[in-house]
Amino acid sequence: MKAIRIHDFGGPEQLRLEEIDCPVPGPGEVLVHNRAAGVNPIDWKTCSGGGASSFIESMPFCPGWEFAGTVESLGEGVDQFRPGDEVLGFTNFPHAAGCYAEYLVAPADQICLRPAALDPVSAAGLGLAGLTAWQALFEAGEFKSGQSVLVLAAAGGVGHLAAQLAKCKGAYVIGTASGTNKAFLQSLGCDDIIDYTRQHVENLIHDADLIIDGVGGEAAIKALDCLNPHGRMVTLPSVTAAEVIAAGEAKGVKVCGIRARPDAAQLHELAMLASSGKVMLTLADSLPLEQAAEAHRLSAQGHTRGKLVLTIR
Ligand SMILES: NC(=O)c1ccc[n+]([C@@H]2O[C@H](COP(=O)([O-])OP(=O)(O)OC[C@H]3O[C@@H](n4cnc5c(N)ncnc54)[C@H](OP(=O)(O)O)[C@@H]3O)[C@@H](O)[C@H]2O)c1
Repeated sequence: MKAIRIHDFGGPEQLRLEEIDCPVPGPGEVLVHNRAAGVNPIDWKTCSGGGASSFIESMPFCPGWEFAGTVESLGEGVDQFRPGDEVLGFTNFPHAAGCYAEYLVAPADQICLRPAALDPVSAAGLGLAGLTAWQALFEAGEFKSGQSVLVLAAAGGVGHLAAQLAKCKGAYVIGTASGTNKAFLQSLGCDDIIDYTRQHVENLIHDADLIIDGVGGEAAIKALDCLNPHGRMVTLPSVTAAEVIAAGEAKGVKVCGIRARPDAAQLHELAMLASSGKVMLTLADSLPLEQAAEAHRLSAQGHTRGKLVLTIR
């Protein structure tokens, strides 16, 4: 089968298209004939030696943690799926999952059936970003209906799903993005839109109950002033989480980081919301698997609108 792999950490030039053996499902796993794989910032960060690289036990490494495909065969003890089932998943994170490939093995308890109304390319982009948004809002963020939620980087992979999820669960949603994404944020249902290239969110918002921070660093620290005294921030970029948490402590507001984790039940709920059109995954672009390096270059520019997805013939 074809797979994209790196043999050394480095830039997109390290990604090679290779012909390798098809994996074999172990107990509790399924073999999936992959149709599409989502691309996330963690993919290129890990390939370059940051991100989740400390969890990558051996080289070569095949990137990618989310996918949509068809169940090909079952490992021992799997009885909840059958060959031919259409599935999606976010699996094994932060250990290698090998989704940039024609076939992959996935733990059966980390995948769910793909509703027919949800196309496989969109489904492939839903897992990692969607579960990050879900867990940031409803677990770490302890979101309650009626709250005011500020999403920093609301046009990004996580942000555009977090904004829609918060809106459909009854939030007043404020989103930040550059001016070119104003209409996009409106289409997501944002009640208030702040162009971070022209306005300072910390001068405009002072009563947010919850901030979902997809930017990190200085921007996140400044945005702490947007919280009401009982508010909290969930900061996503792990590389700056410690400094943002420390700044929150100094200001007396709650800040926490998270690491998204696979959860098939939550993924199923997300897939149902996506198939009913209540939460729409926006595709920034879909590129063939062979162009994974270009997808990493695009993602690293930091201006993806929605999700990038690799398609597999
Ligand atoms: N902790 C976890 O488990 C976890 C999970 C998923 C993601 N993450 C991290 O969370 C961050 C966001 O992930 P993602 O997938 O949403 O990234 P992404 O899709 O690459 O985000 C791109 C978006 O960021 C926006 N943006 C860039 N600079 C901005 C700024 N200063 N203010 C507001 N918006 C800005 C861009 O909007 P414009 O084009 O309008 O500038 C673009 O739409 C990444 O650092 C990622 O690694 C962490």
